[in-house]
Amino acid sequence: MMIAITALKGGVGKTTTAIHIAAYLQTLAPTLLIDADRNRSALVWSKEEKLPFMVASQAGSHGLIKRFEHIVLDVTARPENDELKEIAESYDLVILPTTPNHLDLDATLKAVDILRPLNANFKVLLTQVDPRTINGREAKKFLKEHNLPKFKTEIIKLVAFERAPQKGVIIKDYPDQRAKYAWQQYLTVGQEITNNWTINN
Ligand SMILES: Nc1ncnc2c1ncn2[C@@H]1O[C@H](COP(=O)(O)OP(=O)(O)O)[C@@H](O)[C@H]1O
Ligand SMILES: [Mg+2]
Repeated sequence: MMIAITALKGGVGKTTTAIHIAAYLQTLAPTLLIDADRNRSALVWSKEEKLPFMVASQAGSHGLIKRFEHIVLDVTARPENDELKEIAESYDLVILPTTPNHLDLDATLKAVDILRPLNANFKVLLTQVDPRTINGREAKKFLKEHNLPKFKTEIIKLVAFERAPQKGVIIKDYPDQRAKYAWQQYLTVGQEITNNWTINN
């Protein structure tokens, strides 16, 4: 399966989502994460060689792709329309991570305005949701009002997510009481992806 993670705005959880969806898919079959972002964040995260899947740059991925069942693409930040068109055509699913913040939601709406006419199969993932505030609920209302498909599961805001890259590990392997719970959320998102995929293919 080919999954692209994209957003018109940085800091919304694109790399964090790419890493954890790749970790989930790797539990099923060999998975390659292609880091196409100029900041090379996923490659930096993988430097310690503790991630359970392979990460390559776009240039480095060419000869590799055939060897993997699943591809996860961390798309370049602020992609141009023609890049989104290419992704819409060649990827099975486009994930749009967003925080519940208004400006991030607004940018998500703009991304959808580009993706919809291209017939892309896309889904919004709410991340960095703080359960103590009403932002999450308001964001869900916003997505519903705009008729945007979203994952049932949301990802909580957890400091461990900010610390995991430095240790080079996924959240599952980060020593924090709530890390297992957060990993479970990404696992559930992964299952939503693969269940739909099995039903539709
Ligand atoms: N669920 C989360 N809870 C807390 N912090 C998060 C979460 N997801 C991402 N972050 C943090 O937010 C920042 C942006 O996330 P990142 O995945 O790098 O986004 P992007 O790739 O869209 O720029 C990073 O510091 C990251 O550690
Ligand atoms: Mg990133």
